[in-house]
Amino acid sequence: MTYPDVPLPGPSPDQEALFEGAAVTYARHRPGLPDAAVRLLADTLRCRPSPVLLDLGTGTGQVPLALLSAGAVLTHIEAVDVSPQMLHQARQALTPVLSHCTLTLVHAAADAYEPLATLPGEPDSGPDLITFCRSYHWMNGEAVLEMADRVAAPGAALAIMGDGSLWTHPAGWTRALRELIQHYLGPARRAGVFGSYTEPSSRFEEDLAASAWSDVTQHRIRVARTWTPDSVLGYLRTTSFAGAELFGDDHAAFEADARALLTTQAGERPLVENAVFTVLLARRRRGAR
Ligand SMILES: C[S@@+](CC[C@H](N)C(=O)[O-])C[C@H]1O[C@@H](n2cnc3c(N)ncnc32)[C@H](O)[C@@H]1O
Repeated sequence: MTYPDVPLPGPSPDQEALFEGAAVTYARHRPGLPDAAVRLLADTLRCRPSPVLLDLGTGTGQVPLALLSAGAVLTHIEAVDVSPQMLHQARQALTPVLSHCTLTLVHAAADAYEPLATLPGEPDSGPDLITFCRSYHWMNGEAVLEMADRVAAPGAALAIMGDGSLWTHPAGWTRALRELIQHYLGPARRAGVFGSYTEPSSRFEEDLAASAWSDVTQHRIRVARTWTPDSVLGYLRTTSFAGAELFGDDHAAFEADARALLTTQAGERPLVENAVFTVLLARRRRGAR
């Protein structure tokens, strides 16, 4: 089920448009979650009687998909996103693996989320695990952490996680690629067709420390990914900093240049990204709900 027919207050047309072009290729070209991160999330659900997941900025449903594929028992999933195209892809990805788990797709900005119906579990209870994967930085942090405190079940966990991007990665080949993108689009990192990326004003840890979710452990998971020129080009099309729509008529020329650059770089050594996937796993302070 997807609700509401009219979006809840929050997603502006700009926010919606930022990711809509990427939705179709996103599931194919975006790296998934490392197994160690999935185990960490699954562990938070053990001993919960009817585990409910609330995934904010679900995109194509990578978090619920990884949990269900790893055998985690979930009774219900609320998957929230500002992009209807992303939600459509999430439904396609999740439907085959849901089994007895129910799914609600919510078209809303995360901070405006509220459950439409009573969720499974104890009366007045809520999600047992709330996740933000590569999505928290797009949101109003303070508002979204307040909302999470309002809706989460007692004893729930909340995870903010992500792993940077090929824009931020400091290898020689990613630096050369970034310079090529800047040659076409200008020096600032773009954030869709409407503007440029602004670094979050505070670190996620600071946001958590100032919120109800101040009992935090940090987990840094090393992941080595090997890319090919084709997989990099596919990935770039899904990003807000090098999506096709940013280049206008120059996109084919950009891709030809990028392919030549990546093929030369790959001839010297494999295109490896040594990423660190960071999970900030938070709970409410002892004694709080
Ligand atoms: C980089 S994608 C990450 C998707 C997915 N969590 C993953 O790890 O593959 C960010 C997602 O957050 C969504 N998004 C951005 N701002 C949002 C907001 N304020 N509320 C809800 N979703 C938002 C975008 O539409 C996009 O699907």
